[in-house]
Amino acid sequence: MKKSLTQFLVEQQRLENALPAQLRLLIEVVARACKVIGHTVNKGAITGSLGSLDQINVQGEVQKRLDVVSNDILLDANEWGGNLAALASEEMEAIHPIPHRFPKGEYLLVYDPIDGSSNIDVNGVVGTIFSVLKAPDSVAGREAVEADFLQPGTQQVAAGYAIYGPQTLLVLSVGTGVHAFSLDREMGSWVQTADNMTIPRSTREFAINMANQRHWEAPVRRYIDELVAGKEGARAQDFNMRWMASMVGDVHRVLTRGGVFMYPTDTRPNMQNGKLRLMYEANPMAFLVEQAGGMATDGKRRILEIQPDSLHQRVGVVLGSAEEVARVADYYAGSA
Ligand code: AHG
Ligand code: MN
Ligand code: MN
Ligand code: MN
Repeated sequence: MKKSLTQFLVEQQRLENALPAQLRLLIEVVARACKVIGHTVNKGAITGSLGSLDQINVQGEVQKRLDVVSNDILLDANEWGGNLAALASEEMEAIHPIPHRFPKGEYLLVYDPIDGSSNIDVNGVVGTIFSVLKAPDSVAGREAVEADFLQPGTQQVAAGYAIYGPQTLLVLSVGTGVHAFSLDREMGSWVQTADNMTIPRSTREFAINMANQRHWEAPVRRYIDELVAGKEGARAQDFNMRWMASMVGDVHRVLTRGGVFMYPTDTRPNMQNGKLRLMYEANPMAFLVEQAGGMATDGKRRILEIQPDSLHQRVGVVLGSAEEVARVADYYAGSA
């Protein structure tokens, strides 16, 4: 019989650098919420969960019905469990301390309830991204505040994503490699289907939104120009391009067969810090990518070492196969 998520987590708890029981339970709760979100995504128009709402989030994006529904599913599932001091999400401007009527735990959860929102109504791939941090000890005696979340990604104790595609998968790391679990709908359980996922060091595949080409900075322009030049260019080989408009989908491909994924900063005034969010998109994905032997940079800095200064801050992202990411970082260092 294949291993269940629960069995995997219990085994992690028995290792020398044991996974704490409270963190195990927290991951189980997140995984259960992702099952519910997956079910809601799957039902789509049948349960009236497609379409947009007449409201915008803190990023200035029009919220989809599913953004809000999924945010609430994660909130409801997690706030009573006793594992968290507070949670925060793309779809909530402020952090959500655990209400006093529930027991308070030691961890902080940050999530992107639906990543790839523009794919919802076209039946494209979407996902949920999450990151777990340890709350400072002082939180035991006071209410958690935003500053408690502002820890660099190196401090993450767990990170992962669920991907709602042809299969529903949960990809997870608790700092001991990257492991994938497939949702067995009939059994209602997560079953381990990949162990120690590793990203090949080199690749011939890249992902970037080419529509932004005219705004790119010189290092990105140089790198992509070389890839697009193919056999006839400096790299003397052909590369292929993929763009799913869903970070979860693109990063999942990178984790599965290698590649480089980029959402870089560019020259537009609103893109000086990039598009993707550090705390609930870039950090958890960078954690997974590094755990799988890849690299993640904003061009100039290792993403996991960036000290956040606000919950919703943005960051440029270049991640994936180590040799390619290192090359992009070199181009930035040489400033073209
Ligand atoms: P979200 O749906 O959580 O707001 O994130 C969308 C992000 C990311 O998933 C994806 O890589 C990127 O936006 C797509 O951006 P473009 O629409 O510019 O392609
Ligand atoms: Mn969004
Ligand atoms: Mn997202
Ligand atoms: Mn989102």
